[in-house]
Amino acid sequence: MKKLIAGNWKMNGSLAANATLLEALLEGLRGSTPGADVALCVPAPYLAQVQSLLQGSPIAWGAQDVSPHAQGAYTGEVSAAMLQDFACRYSLVGHSERRQQHGETDAVVAAKAQRALAVGITPIVCVGETLAERQAGLTEAVVKRQLAAVIHTVAHCTSEIVLAYEPVWAIGTGQTATPQQAQQVHAVLRAQLAAATKHPARVRILYGGSMNANNAASLLAQADVDGGLLGGASLKASDLLQIVALAG
Ligand code: PGA
Repeated sequence: MKKLIAGNWKMNGSLAANATLLEALLEGLRGSTPGADVALCVPAPYLAQVQSLLQGSPIAWGAQDVSPHAQGAYTGEVSAAMLQDFACRYSLVGHSERRQQHGETDAVVAAKAQRALAVGITPIVCVGETLAERQAGLTEAVVKRQLAAVIHTVAHCTSEIVLAYEPVWAIGTGQTATPQQAQQVHAVLRAQLAAATKHPARVRILYGGSMNANNAASLLAQADVDGGLLGGASLKASDLLQIVALAG
C-alpha cells in the first residue's frame, strides 16, 4: 500500500502565499511520480484556488472539516456536497483542535465521517490522547473509544476511511511521539480495525504531531505507520517535498 502524506494547513494561507507554496510543490514534483500519495487539507475559502492549481497534478486536496448535516439552517457550516463541488478527495474529521476548541464529541465526529463517505470523500479520522490521558495510562482506551464511535456509525464502510493517530501533546509542540510509541498505538488501532472489517490492511493509519523532515524516516519505517499528517511542515515546500520523498 502506498503511503499517504497529508498536509493540514490549519488556519494559514492567503491567495498569494498559497500560489507560491503550490507552485514550489508542483515544481518539486515535476517530471517524477511521487512514490507516496500526497494531499493538502486547506481552509474552505481556498478550495477553488487549490482545485484550479492542482487539477491534473499528483497532489490531491481536501477540507479540514465537514458538517454533520446535509444542508439547511446551519450558519457557517460547509456540507459534504459543497466539498464535492470542489472535487475534494479528503476531509479531516475530528482533529483534536476541533474536538477541544469546538466541543466535537465522538458522535459528532462519526456523523461527519459518515457524511463525507456518503458523497465519496475519504474522511481522515483523527484520534489521539491528551498528555493528562497518557500520564493516566489511558492512551489506548481513549483512541479505541474515538475509533469505536466511527466504526459503529460507518459500519461496512470502515475500510474506506483513513485514520490519523495524533497525540494531542505532540501537535505543534515540537515534541514527537517516538517511533515505538507511535507503532504501539498504531498496532492497537490496526487490531481494532481487524475486528471491524475484513480489509484492515486497506486502512491507512497516519501519524501526526510534529512530524518533520528530520524525524519522518524513523516514524514512517514502523510497520503500522502508513503515512503522515503534517501541520507546520506542510506549509514549507522543501520540508513537505523531503517527507514525500522519504515516504516513497
Ligand atoms: P503539527 O500538526 O505537524 O504542526 O504538529 C499536525 C496536525 O495538527 O495535524
